[in-house]
Amino acid sequence: MADLINVIIAAGGTTAYEDPFDATSMDAAYISLPQLVSCFIAENGGELAGFQGLMWSFDPDDPLPDGWATIGTFARVGLTQRGVGGALFAATREAARTARVTVIDATIRADNTGGLAFYSRQGFVDYDRRVAVPLKDGTPVDRIRKRFDIAA
Ligand SMILES: CC(C)(COP(=O)(O)OP(=O)(O)OC[C@H]1O[C@@H](n2cnc3c(N)ncnc32)[C@H](O)[C@@H]1OP(=O)(O)O)[C@@H](O)C(=O)NCCC(=O)NCCS
Repeated sequence: MADLINVIIAAGGTTAYEDPFDATSMDAAYISLPQLVSCFIAENGGELAGFQGLMWSFDPDDPLPDGWATIGTFARVGLTQRGVGGALFAATREAARTARVTVIDATIRADNTGGLAFYSRQGFVDYDRRVAVPLKDGTPVDRIRKRFDIAA
């Protein structure tokens, strides 16, 4: 999982992550996180093709309302737009329902047109915008916030 996301991080321009993961930090963020709701992986011929994590509010600087969880999706570079993310979301949506998540938040860099299109295709709708959140080098980048409401 770290190897897969590190290629996406190195390419830049999509994920909000800027520092590479290793096995320990990936475990802490997507497997052992106490606030984790679910983390599904997709395989293609025995090779990891992508993963998607869903977590209850965990960032004290950006709290989410009660019942909300936030999502992150990563498909292997070279294997995008072949159904990996959509298949992962079918599983995550059911896990969210089981865990009684009411709303899934996706907070996406405004310049990540592919990520925005992907979540819109899953049924997410815009609800907020965080303006000029700086990258590590100070470059301001807006974040578009999308929500997916889980039917009761
Ligand atoms: C965004 C991302 C997760 C999408 O995963 P994916 O496996 O390519 O998505 P899918 O193939 O399942 O696409 C599902 C739908 O979204 C659409 N979609 C996906 N990527 C798209 C893009 N770049 N531009 C336009 N539409 C896109 C697909 O066309 C598809 O539509 P359909 O249902 O009409 O066929 C993947 O491109 C990725 O890992 N990007 C880098 C990391 C990132 O930006 N993550 C999101 C922020 S956490």
